[in-house]
Amino acid sequence: MIRIAAVGDVHVDKDVVGRYRPALEELPDRADALLIAGDLTRHGTVQEAKCFATEFGGLGVPVVVVLGNHDHQSDQPDAVTKAIEDAGITVLESAATVLELRGHRLGIAGTKGFGGGFAGACASNFGEREMKDFVGTTERYAAGLGEALRSVRCDALVALTHYAPVPETLVGEPLEIYPFLGCYQLGQAIDSAPTALALHGHAHHGSERGRTPGGVPVRNVAHPVIKQAYNVYQLLSDSDDVDSELAAVS
Ligand SMILES: [Fe+2]
Repeated sequence: MIRIAAVGDVHVDKDVVGRYRPALEELPDRADALLIAGDLTRHGTVQEAKCFATEFGGLGVPVVVVLGNHDHQSDQPDAVTKAIEDAGITVLESAATVLELRGHRLGIAGTKGFGGGFAGACASNFGEREMKDFVGTTERYAAGLGEALRSVRCDALVALTHYAPVPETLVGEPLEIYPFLGCYQLGQAIDSAPTALALHGHAHHGSERGRTPGGVPVRNVAHPVIKQAYNVYQLLSDSDDVDSELAAVS
């Protein structure tokens, strides 16, 4: 069994440093790795990225993250990525990594993703150049995730995104903003590989649990949704249920 701790939308700046740390100190006793589903910072500055790295670095377990839209706010995602990687944290964008945990190979493929909407209510690649650019961005991130997922050889495969791959985990958000919270193409990418679990954030008022059309469990781990420092999910257990009895970690 592999135990994965996950959270998203931690939005760290200098005022947040220290808020998560007490719960994180106990994390190595409860989970084998920590995955963070974007919006690591508030405004995407390098200073905030360093604050994030201070808060979530040096935990004693591998930490793997994707960026969120907030981490792009200052138009320096590369510098933000470097500040986080300098703390030994893995940042994925249309890429994958493999962790050796408890004798198993855990594959994690990640992307920030993008909006676009879901079946019957989505943007289409038609008309103005600006709309084609928008949908082209959606498709580029989803294609990057799909290729990364299919490239991994592992015992258990996890997809990590900021934007949502299904509408079920957006329930609670206004319907009008669903197209800005996720896209169906991410769900298709997840279903194009033997993905065991999909984690995302971004939808602060959404719901925790959903499933892709292909049946992959989806969990919205945005901090305001799970209301704790992290949830723990289990893979490769005797039970098919990914939701661990440890999910009540505060
Ligand atoms: Fe976000």
